[in-house]
Amino acid sequence: MKKTPEQLRSFRWFGPATMRGFSHRSRMKQLGYRQEDFTGRPVVAIINTWSEINPCHGHFRERAEAVKKGVWQAGGFPVEIPALSITETYMKPSPMLYRNLLAMETEENLRSLPVDGAVLMGGCDKTTPGLLMGAISMNLPAIYLPGGPMLRGNWKGQALGSGTDIWKFWTERCAGAISEQEWNDMEGGIARSPGFCMTMGTASTMTAVAEALGFTLPGASSIPAPDSNHVRMAMNCGQRIVEMIWEGLRPSSFLTMEAYENAIAVDMAIGGSSNAIIHLVALARRSGLHLALNRFDEISRRVPVLANIRPSGKFLMEDFYYAGGLTGLMAEIPDLLHLDCLTVNGRTLGENLKGASVNDADVIRPRSNPLVASGGTAILYGNLAPDGAVIKTSAADARLLVHTGPAVVFNSYADMEARLDCEDLEVTADSVLVLQNAGPRGGPGMPEWGMLPIPKKLLIEGVRDMVRISDARMSGTSYGTCVLHVSPESFVGGPLALVEDGDLIALDVPSRSLQVLVSKAEMETRRRRWIQPSSRYSRGYGALYHERVTQAHEGCDFDFLEGTDPTAEPEIH
Ligand code: FES
Repeated sequence: MKKTPEQLRSFRWFGPATMRGFSHRSRMKQLGYRQEDFTGRPVVAIINTWSEINPCHGHFRERAEAVKKGVWQAGGFPVEIPALSITETYMKPSPMLYRNLLAMETEENLRSLPVDGAVLMGGCDKTTPGLLMGAISMNLPAIYLPGGPMLRGNWKGQALGSGTDIWKFWTERCAGAISEQEWNDMEGGIARSPGFCMTMGTASTMTAVAEALGFTLPGASSIPAPDSNHVRMAMNCGQRIVEMIWEGLRPSSFLTMEAYENAIAVDMAIGGSSNAIIHLVALARRSGLHLALNRFDEISRRVPVLANIRPSGKFLMEDFYYAGGLTGLMAEIPDLLHLDCLTVNGRTLGENLKGASVNDADVIRPRSNPLVASGGTAILYGNLAPDGAVIKTSAADARLLVHTGPAVVFNSYADMEARLDCEDLEVTADSVLVLQNAGPRGGPGMPEWGMLPIPKKLLIEGVRDMVRISDARMSGTSYGTCVLHVSPESFVGGPLALVEDGDLIALDVPSRSLQVLVSKAEMETRRRRWIQPSSRYSRGYGALYHERVTQAHEGCDFDFLEGTDPTAEPEIH
């Protein structure tokens, strides 16, 4: 039933004939608004993660204006509220360290201010999960506005993809196959418009996941950032959120287990970033739902990879949009989705997919010709990863998916950088590179170090992939036979901490197994000798993070932010 103006949350601030009500109204008037503009109308928070140092969100000021137009036209009152702009390129030691901070900021902005609902503006990797986590916990009506991918990169007429082609050409540069001039020319051509990475990295994956969860308008996640359709989509978000507020449509109304299963199925069908697993586990826990890692494996085994997008495939997100975008892709797999799930436009996923189709069967493959038949992502268990590890098989060398080799162990990223290219490093193409202390606490923040570089002397011999194992994450734009998210992490004494040079490690993806071939007794002896490294933080946000972050298989949220225990609305006195 539609709310009355007096039932709006913001009315608690603007409605009462009290001294506080006077104060709240007078300050809006100070901003130049009339009382009828903001009293008894849905107040929409536009949570904007714009920043001058975030090129992925360079167009967000203009888009916020488009959202405002939509809000005004629908009879609402827009207020733009800035939030932490997690910029993947620049934030160190790892942007992941700050995802939970954005989630807290989003939740507390919405809780403490006189707002009735929110349009959440994000896109660059961690901004999507950060904004959604906060909005789920606050549970006001909310709609997600994905920033959109940037245009294809260009170098001598050749399409360049964010991240993926940097790794590829850097490897060639290290092998001496690319000149300095060519490398410099690429630098000017790879990122040539606002928008997030246009490969199927974490940004494109998480915005697609947001759409599959029902958090965006249909088709919103695939529109390139500079496209005029993106402006109109922003306006539509503004218009729709006002209706959602009157209807009382909240995240808890549509974020069911089935919605999360849709998100996993879409993640698999697009050959999505391995990071999505951590974020989805965290989002689900905010909804009070438990997503076990095995669920990803089960769904992965029955969902084919259909999106022929780098790093798993050949094309880029601009091509994906022209080929039909996410709605086109989802229309290829209706039997693998729960079509009766509700979405923010008030219709079901199935209703939203009516009429959606694919325009290019090479970019979005038909079921009869998938890029990978199934199992694009696998979850591994074994004595090296008792709580699980992840491998993106669609981006790995198939020949290495069953492999046993001796470990070459680095106890930190700095250790690896210092020794990897040393002539005397005992390493062959059969070795297994192991990186320790790069997990949630050890990194800290699980930096994207999981695609360890190939040692130079092997590159020159023509080696382009090796088995690599770590408790780190990997950029969604990366590729290679990289076992990631090993849990528990080495910093807290997980078995990865006990691996030594020369230990044989057996990877068997078809059996979903990751083992170190060392006896139990020897591992116990090593455990007794093991000394935990000390935390880098004695104060500040880093210390809070270190103390309260959960492990990778639990989503790396703060333990006190999980769950659905109610938090009281603020008292207004
Ligand atoms: Fe922003 Fe890749 S750097 S999405």
